[in-house]
Amino acid sequence: MKTISFQSDDIRLYNEDCLKILKKIDDESVSLVVTSPPYCMGKEYENIKDDIKSFSSLNEKVLRESIRILKKGGSLCWQVGFHIKDSVSIPLDIIIYNIIQKINENLEPDSQMLLRNRIIWTFGHGLNAEKRLSGRYETILWCTKGKEYTFNLDMIRVPQKYPGKKYYRGKKAGQFSGNPLGKNPSDVWEIPNVKANHVEKTDHPCQFPIVIPQRLIRALTNENDVVVDPFFGSGTTAVACVMEKRKFIGCELKKEYVAIAEERIAKAIEGTIEYRPDVPVIEPDLTQKVAQKPEDFKW
Ligand SMILES: C[S@@+](CC[C@H](N)C(=O)[O-])C[C@H]1O[C@@H](n2cnc3c(N)ncnc32)[C@H](O)[C@@H]1O
Repeated sequence: MKTISFQSDDIRLYNEDCLKILKKIDDESVSLVVTSPPYCMGKEYENIKDDIKSFSSLNEKVLRESIRILKKGGSLCWQVGFHIKDSVSIPLDIIIYNIIQKINENLEPDSQMLLRNRIIWTFGHGLNAEKRLSGRYETILWCTKGKEYTFNLDMIRVPQKYPGKKYYRGKKAGQFSGNPLGKNPSDVWEIPNVKANHVEKTDHPCQFPIVIPQRLIRALTNENDVVVDPFFGSGTTAVACVMEKRKFIGCELKKEYVAIAEERIAKAIEGTIEYRPDVPVIEPDLTQKVAQKPEDFKW
């Protein structure tokens, strides 16, 4: 407990290896584990020797602990992308899915992890590939512990494209056909990633946007529930917990990222954190010069 760098009743940040801390959390005591683990992509927080073998080994250990601490009815959300080397892609969620199935083999049926959605997180910008198609999505595997689970769909509905649409025949003819609270956001989420000019960008090289954990927290937990992020990086999940009044426990190995997280959490508590809200991505305005095709472009 000496190495806690920031602690309030509700938010606990550990500057420690997550395995050490997860082992101290009671069985079936948390409602949601949501994280984005390191992808062995040569990022500055990774070990140069990290590869698919070490990715699998670390994730298996962290998943075992995460599943142990989850309450029945709780959720596990693992956000990953692809490991890419020499233009060869390995989809990391397939590795994660297989590990979860292996862990399930030794669990009682009511504690097994059931995949509810493989959420596609798509974004418009990123590296432009030369020898393959440019990658514009990553995934989030959402599993629940057991068959009964918390799912507050109304908390994450999004605006319909055509809210004025009406039934044109049958008993409801003439009435609006959409849900007045908005539509189900589906399993394809278009949310800009955190690049240099994003309002949430910090010095962490690989943040996810606040609305990703925020949507998951709203849908899969209730106020005052405990949420865990074993690899919190710049503290995005913790910030979302403050905004949504959930308790948070998380770990991060690098001191400098813990400092970034502390600063963001303090701002979230004060209500001054800047973030991109959960609104649809705008279509380009074709009257703007940057949206117009230069004369010598061939397409
Ligand atoms: C993909 S980043 C997470 C980014 C985070 N979602 C955010 O929005 O900032 C993974 C993080 O895990 C940290 N990390 C790597 N191994 C760890 C371990 N064993 N325990 C705790 N943190 C670790 C890395 O330093 C890195 O910041």
